[in-house]
Formats: sequence, structure tokens, C-alpha cells
Amino acid sequence: MTKIALITGATSGIGEACAHLFARENYNLVLTGRRIDRLEKLAKKLNDKYNVEVAVSQFDVRNRGDVAENLENLPAKWKHVDVLVNNAGLSQGLDPIQKGDLDDWDTMIDTNIKGLLYVSKIVANWMIDNKKGHIVNIGSIAGKEVYANGNVYCATKHAVDALNKGMRIDLLPYGIKVTAIHPGAVETEFSEVRFKGDKERAKKVYDGFEPLVADDIAETIWFVVSRPKHVNINDMIVMPTAQANAGTIFRG
Ligand SMILES: NC(=O)c1ccc[n+]([C@@H]2O[C@H](COP(=O)([O-])OP(=O)(O)OC[C@H]3O[C@@H](n4cnc5c(N)ncnc54)[C@H](OP(=O)(O)O)[C@@H]3O)[C@@H](O)[C@H]2O)c1
Repeated sequence: MTKIALITGATSGIGEACAHLFARENYNLVLTGRRIDRLEKLAKKLNDKYNVEVAVSQFDVRNRGDVAENLENLPAKWKHVDVLVNNAGLSQGLDPIQKGDLDDWDTMIDTNIKGLLYVSKIVANWMIDNKKGHIVNIGSIAGKEVYANGNVYCATKHAVDALNKGMRIDLLPYGIKVTAIHPGAVETEFSEVRFKGDKERAKKVYDGFEPLVADDIAETIWFVVSRPKHVNINDMIVMPTAQANAGTIFRG
């Protein structure tokens, strides 16, 4: 039977790259995000190129009612999810704690922690019913270390790290694998979102070194997902060669 991957935040960056890679590997896909135009365009492209079935589901992961309604209303066949990639996430602002914007904090906490939880609870129950599954949580080097002005974003990704460990314990009796991938700097729309559309400032983040690209992370996820049944990769940190840790980048 053709396998199914559900990827959150598939409209851009790492999620979009995962959609391409899983389609290439002949998975049928459930793709989610808020920008429905992008989801529909991507679905058509993947269907044309790889002849896989793609369902799209538009919702904001912060809205638990919308998450539940959209996921639970998917036709039953789509609930046999083999792989969930919990990818939807973002950073907003880069300010010291005393100057932080409360709306930015709410957005990051609601998206990166609560949104991931709302999706995970529903899909984990499908996986328990189906007696199979693999949850891949996209954390960050910001979930392993803290950098200047990263305060709340780092806290949300530390929470993802903790949830990843907790999920693995809770889902162990059901044979469900749980993995976290923690990327360093990846050039996607991430910095543009962090700096609220300031393209110049976003570009500077990647000046003078070669960052990761979304495909690098998608390929890592594929490696993790394609291990034999008895092998689980718990945790992986993937960095650009020019980045030693969260705050140290060699700009040549
Ligand atoms: N880029 C990096 O350097 C980096 C490093 C470490 C970790 N990460 C993590 O990697 C993940 C993907 O980020 P990316 O780099 O690929 O950034 P991106 O290009 O900005 O993509 C983010 C994705 O998340 C979705 N998303 C954001 N808020 C959402 C919401 N409220 N509801 C539903 N979907 C939402 C976006 O879709 P819509 O806007 O269409 O909803 C988009 O598809 C994030 O969890 C991020 O924290 C990124």
C-alpha cells in the first residue's frame, strides 16, 4: 500500500522541500499551511511530476478548533499516516527580553509549541489505531542552545526538544517512532518572516557563508524515515559547515 506523509508548513522552505522528496519516494501526501494558493499549486505540481495523490488542508496551527475540524474531516483513507513532519513554525523579532514584543511572543509560543501539540495529538491517535507511524519534529539548534536576543524563540524550540523526548516515551508501547531534527541556519523564508518582510535584513543573516538549503534538511529527514523498522534516530543536529554552534558562524 502506498505510504502517506502529513507535512505541516508545506507552503515554503523545509516543508515544501519535504513534500517534493516524499513525493519522489512515492508517498501520497497531506500538505498543510495557511496559504492555500501555494498548497494547491504544489499539489498539482507533485501530482503531475510524480503521479502521487495529494490532499491539501488549510488551517492555522494556532487555532485548535480549525486544526481538529480540518484534520478530522479528512476522508478516512488519509488518516493512515505513516510519517508526520511537524514542521510549521516561525520566529518573530530578535530583541532583548526587556524589549520583546508580547504579540511576537504569543505568536511563537502558540505556533511552535501549541500548534505542534494540537496536530500531534490527533495524528498520534491515528497512528495508535493503525499500529504504525513516525513523528518527525523539526526543532532547531535554538532548542539546544540559547543565543543573544533569541530568548523566546529558543524557549519554544527547547520545548519542542522536551516534547520530542516525552512523545517518544509515551508512544513507545505502540511502536511509533519519534525523532527530532535540529537545523542550524537554513536559507528559507524564515528570516524574512522573523524580520516581518524586511528582505535586506533577512539576506544579511546569510552573508559571507554558505547556509544549509531546505533540501539538505529534507534529505536528512528522508534518511531518518527510511531506516529499518527496528532503528530509530532519536535526535539529530544538522549545521552548515561554517556554523559551529548557535552563535558562531565563520563569515569568510
Ligand atoms: N530556516 C532556519 O534557519 C531554521 C533553523 C532551525 C529550525 N527551523 C525550523 O524549521 C521549520 C520550517 O521553517 P522554514 O525555515 O522552512 O521557514 P519558512 O520558509 O518560513 O516556512 C515556515 C512554514 O511554516 C508554516 N507556518 C508558519 N506559521 C504557521 C501557522 N500559524 N499555521 C500553519 N502553518 C504555519 C508556513 O506556512 P503558511 O505561512 O502558509 O501558514 C510555512 O510553510 C520551522 O519550525 C522553523 O522554526 C528553521
